[in-house]
Amino acid sequence: MQVDIQKNIKLSSFSTLKIGGRAKFFVVVKNEDEFLAALTWARKKSKKIFILGGGSNTLFSDSDFDGLVIKNEIRGTELVSENENSVIIKSYSGETWSKLVNFAISRKYYGAENLFYIPGTVGASPVQNIGAYGVELKDIFYNLCAIDLENGEKKHFNLKDCQFSYRHSFFKGEGKNRYFILWVAIKLSKKEKFNLDYGDIRNKLLAKGIEKPSLEDVSSVIQEMRNDKIPNPAVLANAGSFFKNPIVDSTFFEKIKSEFPDIKSFPDLKGVKIPAAWLIEKCGLKGYRYKNVGVYEKQALILVNYGNAKQEDLLFLVEFIRKSVFDSFAIILEPEVNILK
Ligand code: EPU
Repeated sequence: MQVDIQKNIKLSSFSTLKIGGRAKFFVVVKNEDEFLAALTWARKKSKKIFILGGGSNTLFSDSDFDGLVIKNEIRGTELVSENENSVIIKSYSGETWSKLVNFAISRKYYGAENLFYIPGTVGASPVQNIGAYGVELKDIFYNLCAIDLENGEKKHFNLKDCQFSYRHSFFKGEGKNRYFILWVAIKLSKKEKFNLDYGDIRNKLLAKGIEKPSLEDVSSVIQEMRNDKIPNPAVLANAGSFFKNPIVDSTFFEKIKSEFPDIKSFPDLKGVKIPAAWLIEKCGLKGYRYKNVGVYEKQALILVNYGNAKQEDLLFLVEFIRKSVFDSFAIILEPEVNILK
């Protein structure tokens, strides 16, 4: 099979941060065979590959990528099976995550609605175990199929194989750069079942006079909450949360709390999760600007590109923030965004 390899394509237009040099080689794949053909091409020419989904969590380098960028546009969503209580639905990895959630909401399947409006593709969702408003992908995950980049063979992964934890999975650890995720299946409930306990969801519904919400009510409140805090990348370039919220042990947390009684926290299986936005704001950096990049004025965990920024500038700001937080709290912030150097 022939693939249409393009040359010298600007990567900034494929990242919601709007930063990056060019890809020496670039190809769009729309099905599995095209993906395999692209992989074979790269192998024959000994070129490294980078698999690109929605570009909503990627910070490209200012220098050119000397390899093949494979833009995944393998799409399609379908019902796999159902019983009286639940359904399994599957989307190919180049589908947008929102499409999968909309598919679920319109058919009255419960469980994905708190993850409404998260940008990016289905294929990226298990890599970083996407999460929002008290729900993570792992809570609804069923299984996935991935292609081993070494030998082109398919392998299925169940929940345990994926080793999900907060914004982490096998595909970010041991399995990093080894697999191409082809499709992801999720299991949802046919019986009404909501997660309304996180933050202000319930209060926002009540403020609208809604006591018994529908799936549409919940998803529209989630969308409003996101819109309040996360700028639309088409208007102000960003990649959502730039850092992960750090998890510390409870003794350490109590020590910080004695010094900063107003510190916010969330329980976590591995300890106490502290909002990185709170730490950054406490360092006086909310709204801070360096050259053409800055800390978003309404949400301190979001870094924005005001226009024509360089990766170099953003990385300078990132290190400045990390140093400030470390100097004030002895906490190391880890980026959530995938940084290509
Ligand atoms: N806060 C501040 N200052 C700010 C913003 C927030 O002090 O400028 C404090 C507030 O106390 C707030 C707390 O931080 O209660 C948490 O803020 P928010 O609810 O906005 O969530 P977050 O922890 O900053 C996480 C996810 C988001 C997800 C939201 C909602 C991570 C890295 N980020 O952000 O995911 O939408 O919760 O569930 O866990 C993403 O991954 O790109 C993303 C946007």
